[in-house]
Amino acid sequence: MITELPVLIPGEGEPPAGLGSDHPMRQVTRAVAFEPDGWTPERQQQVQELFDGLADEWNTRDVPGREAPLVDAFRRGLDAAPDLDHHLAVELGAGTGLFSRELAARFPEVVAVDIAFEMLRRAPAGPAHRAQGDGSRLPVADGSVDALVLVNMFLFPAEVDRVLARHGALVWVNSRGADTPIHLTAAEVDGCLPGDWSGVASTAGHGTWSVHWRSS
Ligand SMILES: C[S@@+](CC[C@H](N)C(=O)[O-])C[C@H]1O[C@@H](n2cnc3c(N)ncnc32)[C@H](O)[C@@H]1O
Repeated sequence: MITELPVLIPGEGEPPAGLGSDHPMRQVTRAVAFEPDGWTPERQQQVQELFDGLADEWNTRDVPGREAPLVDAFRRGLDAAPDLDHHLAVELGAGTGLFSRELAARFPEVVAVDIAFEMLRRAPAGPAHRAQGDGSRLPVADGSVDALVLVNMFLFPAEVDRVLARHGALVWVNSRGADTPIHLTAAEVDGCLPGDWSGVASTAGHGTWSVHWRSS
């Protein structure tokens, strides 16, 4: 069950223009989340090529306030997760590492994983160990990750369940809320995950976030 928290950080100014629901990445998002075989080799290649091609201009998206939903998710969402350890966080779909420092401020070990080498190559060295990998088969042991952070990134439900520690938490952020191309509602994330989960959700700035943990 998801508990909606009140909004503490309102959006300022006009929301960024969004093509979210018509974007081809929205279809991929839904296929990956809802269909067991949704992540096909063709989709993998399409996604990798798309983001390798966007790498040069990706940081133009780093506008003031874009970090608001992640900051709020960390403050109120992670704090709500019972018995969460703060050792290892994996930032999946880390891109050019725009959020790696936020993770490193909370977790002593951070691994930034991305399928697109050109994105990862532009990420800063230091706040996170960088690794090229596919979120459908993460190069980490079962039950080893305290926080799995997905900012504008696809949800692979079975893999989330495999890698998260017993008291681990999934952090789900959409920077432009429902206008984000890679978007799911908190209830959809909750419904996709295997087994019973609890969580909290809210909006911050122009984005939405939710944090999910296994019900005891
Ligand atoms: C929309 S971008 C978001 C980047 C970053 N999180 C941000 O918000 O600035 C999605 C990122 O996820 C990566 N990605 C997509 N599918 C992936 C997969 N299966 N495994 C790992 N990374 C993936 C892309 O290469 C891209 O860098």
